[in-house]
Formats: sequence, structure tokens, C-alpha cells
Amino acid sequence: MQTVHTIADVQAFVGARRAQGLRIGFVPTMGNLHGGHLTLVEQAKQHCDVVVVSIYVNPLQFGPNEDYDSYPRTMEQDQQLLTEHGVDLLYAASTAEIYPEGSDNHTHVTVDILDGMHCGSSRPGFFRGIATVVTKLFNIVRPDIAVFGEKDFQQLTIIRKMVSDLCLPVEIIGAPIARETSGLAMSSRNGYLSRQERNEIAPALYQCLLDAQTAIQAGETDFDLLRRNAFSQMAEAGFKPDYFNICNPLTLLPATHNEHSLVILAAGYLGKARLIDNVYFDR
Ligand code: PAJ
Repeated sequence: MQTVHTIADVQAFVGARRAQGLRIGFVPTMGNLHGGHLTLVEQAKQHCDVVVVSIYVNPLQFGPNEDYDSYPRTMEQDQQLLTEHGVDLLYAASTAEIYPEGSDNHTHVTVDILDGMHCGSSRPGFFRGIATVVTKLFNIVRPDIAVFGEKDFQQLTIIRKMVSDLCLPVEIIGAPIARETSGLAMSSRNGYLSRQERNEIAPALYQCLLDAQTAIQAGETDFDLLRRNAFSQMAEAGFKPDYFNICNPLTLLPATHNEHSLVILAAGYLGKARLIDNVYFDR
């Protein structure tokens, strides 16, 4: 695997392969890679000849009191994992090149209709930061396909809409959530948890989602009741609940009783971490 740091080097590498008629797959990440990221790499390999992974902790998607400075940066370990998994190119981007005039002075991309709900309401500017950097990374790498995890369901929905609305020439592929054996969704932020929080409390988030799914599939239609129950269940387990929203999986608006497919999006604070998870199912 080759590691490059500049746009020119990415474009030289990818341009040469594209000229040979090879299909380029792209997996954008913020690094500190785990099994979830690696399933995205595997998906990209299935669809493409050449796999490019980017690692960039994007300052534009972090709020002023969030964990930008402390976000785990583990470049050597990440390089080793990506090499073992047959990645062709690692693009370790730099802020000097991504935001040469500072992130505030940069052109922004916003998917307004999906921006302010769920994670967007507790993290203003978060999705604007993501949509902006992902657009930029797409224009740098110019992949045929890009793979994103369903773990970040709202992010995936926003990227799909952005690509469709702006006619970006890339196909978006969603990859299922990779979980630890406890059910906890893999996440770089799980590293902020103590062993006890991680093993004994954190898996309760997925359990709350599964319980609501089971109730809906057994015919429960009182979504407000399910939401209140989930909040109590999360709080009893030791979380400070943020949201638990039963939604239409395309619009992410509150579900009515007509949808056949539903997604439940949930987030909660635990210790130093804010964890998110979701379940996507048919009634
Ligand atoms: P990051 O949190 O590093 O995640 C990179 C990709 O891995 C995202 O598409 C995310 O959904 C996926 N992912 C993370 N945990 C996963 C899991 N347990 N199972 C499946 N997929 C998982 O998401 C970002 O970075 C950034 O917002 C980014 C898109 C790179 C823009 O900066």
C-alpha cells in the first residue's frame, strides 16, 4: 500500500489507474480504524479493482466543545491494518491543503432538509462539515463508488441525497453495522469508555432499539410510548439519553403508521462518549 499526503499525489495515483480502465472504490474515514471500517474496505474490494481509503479528522464537523483535539489518531496502526486488508492507496489528508484559508472561509455544502434533525439538532454544523469534506474528497479522488456505513444512518442518507441533488458522478454503497459480540456497534469513540461502561452499559443502547423493534413487529403502534420506555430504559442502564426517534428511512421524518419500512435512530451520552446506533427493519 502506498501512503500519500497531497491532492496531486492522489490524482497521479488514481489517474494512472483510471486510464487503465480500472474501477476505483473509495472509503472515507477519520482513522482509528476498527472492524466496522474494515467491512467497508471489503465491500469496496468486491465492487472495484482499486481501493482508496482516506484518513482525515475533519475540523469542520466538530463543534467548539467537542473532541477534535482528543479524537484518537493512530496512523501507524491504521496503515498496518489497511495494508493487511489489501488497500491500494491511503490518502492521509492535511488541513493545510483541505482548508488552506481556514474552514470558516471555505465554501460549504449543506443538505438543509436533513441537517437539523437527530444528530444535527444536538451537533449544529456537524452535517455541513461532513457534506463539505465528502464533496471535496469525492472531487479529489473521483471514485466510481464510495462506501459508507449504515452505523451513521443520517450521514449515509445525507450523502445519498447530496450525490443525487448535485449529480455527483459516484455510486454510494451502504454497508451494514459491524457489532462487538455484546451487540455494541463498533466505533472509534468506544475507546473513551471505561471497561465497565463498555461491557456492562453500552450494549443497552442496541438492546433498547431491538426491544422497540420487537414491540413494533408484534403490532405496537404507540410510538410515543415506545420512545418514553426507551428513554427510561437507557437512563436506568446508565445513559443520558439524547434522542430515540422512530422514522421513515428515506425522509428521516417521524414515522406515520403507514410505512412498511422503519428506522429507529438513537443516541445517548455515556461517560466521556456520545454513542449512536440504529435498527432498520420492515414491519
Ligand atoms: P468515521 O467515523 O471514521 O467513519 C468512517 C466510515 O465508517 C463511515 O461511513 C461510518 O459509517 C463507517 N463506520 C463506522 N463504524 C461502523 C460500524 N460499526 N459498522 C459499519 N460502518 C461503520 O464517518 C466519518 O468517519 C466521517 O464523518 C467522514 C465520512 C469520514 C467525513 O469526515
